[in-house]
Amino acid sequence: MSMHRFALIGVGNIGQRFLRILLQKQDMLNARFGLQLSLVAVVDSAGAALNDNGLDINQVLRLKEAGNSVADYPRYGKRGMTGLAALEQSNAQLLVELSPTNLKHGEPGLSAITWALEHDMDVVTANKGPLVLAYQRLAALAAERKRQLLFSGAVAGGLPTVNIGCRDLIAAKILRVEGIFNTTTNYILVRMAESGLSFEQALAEAQRAGVAEADPSLDIDGWDAANKLIIVANSVLGMPATLEDVSVQGIRGIDRTQLLQAQERGHTIKLLATAELAGERYKLAVRPTELPLDHILARLTKWQMGVVYTTDINGTITAIIEEEGTTATAGAVLRDTVNLLTSRGNS
Ligand SMILES: NC(=O)c1ccc[n+]([C@@H]2O[C@H](COP(=O)([O-])OP(=O)(O)OC[C@H]3O[C@@H](n4cnc5c(N)ncnc54)[C@H](OP(=O)(O)O)[C@@H]3O)[C@@H](O)[C@H]2O)c1
Repeated sequence: MSMHRFALIGVGNIGQRFLRILLQKQDMLNARFGLQLSLVAVVDSAGAALNDNGLDINQVLRLKEAGNSVADYPRYGKRGMTGLAALEQSNAQLLVELSPTNLKHGEPGLSAITWALEHDMDVVTANKGPLVLAYQRLAALAAERKRQLLFSGAVAGGLPTVNIGCRDLIAAKILRVEGIFNTTTNYILVRMAESGLSFEQALAEAQRAGVAEADPSLDIDGWDAANKLIIVANSVLGMPATLEDVSVQGIRGIDRTQLLQAQERGHTIKLLATAELAGERYKLAVRPTELPLDHILARLTKWQMGVVYTTDINGTITAIIEEEGTTATAGAVLRDTVNLLTSRGNS
């Protein structure tokens, strides 16, 4: 059996779900892979808790469920301690970074991930900010330090978009990527099409269902999908793209009449993220797109996301996920963690 010490930054929806799944799976991970994970540092917005011999995950979860901070952890809690300070003081070998996505400066995730890689830690994250802003630099740093940076939960939650692209299409030329990467917009378009709701009604319903944020502009104006497309471009397509390389149009302004007209033509409208090979580079776009009803992504229901890779030698591969709630994204974080630790061997 090998013990792996990890630090967790961000104990919100995904972080808590990740810890719960870890508790649920730990016997299986031990029996099947000889893996034991020990949480030695945990950080939220108010502080941290650190114990080199391992914190009690149930205690962390009880604190968060009661609305407290991990800084309230008896004896080991440290109010005001930042993620960086916690990393500096802990003996963690792996960082699981699940703080909020910030697309302006990437913090606090960007500094924490950078520090971890510089100090020979492996990193798993579902945080898009650092990847969108600094993918090339972080990937180069990981390669230089011979560390792994895995982020399969960052592009469409549990959908293995990045894994399929990087692993299963490793020898292919990818000719085209089409993705429905954003649940909020897909939910809204599906509900408008199937139930005749207006855009505003469908958005309000999506907010009540907990899928859309109170400020949904990042989703409905296409930026969330564009960010995910940038991560795919950088990591799967090997193209050092930034937001400036993506033509972005959201679904604001799509009305019921447009959907009905599309239906009359045997089509439906989806917010599609595409990367199309044009010469040596890919043309990247996010825009509302009319898809024929026999297109596999046209059939996605309101809780689904999907990706289609068209390739030269591996055929056309489609993956679709039905994802409601946080489990599949947290599951992606665990998948990355296990992949990372098992590929390292029992060190
Ligand atoms: N939710 C999803 O379905 C989903 C899907 C894919 C990817 N993601 C990504 O996963 C990450 C986590 O998402 P989430 O939904 O779990 O977010 P969340 O519920 O808002 O949780 C964020 C956590 O980060 C903590 N935090 C905030 N500022 C911090 C700081 N400066 N230093 C340390 N910790 C800080 C928060 O502390 P408090 O607990 O004190 O507030 C909270 O524990 C995000 O980057 C998100 O984009 C989420």
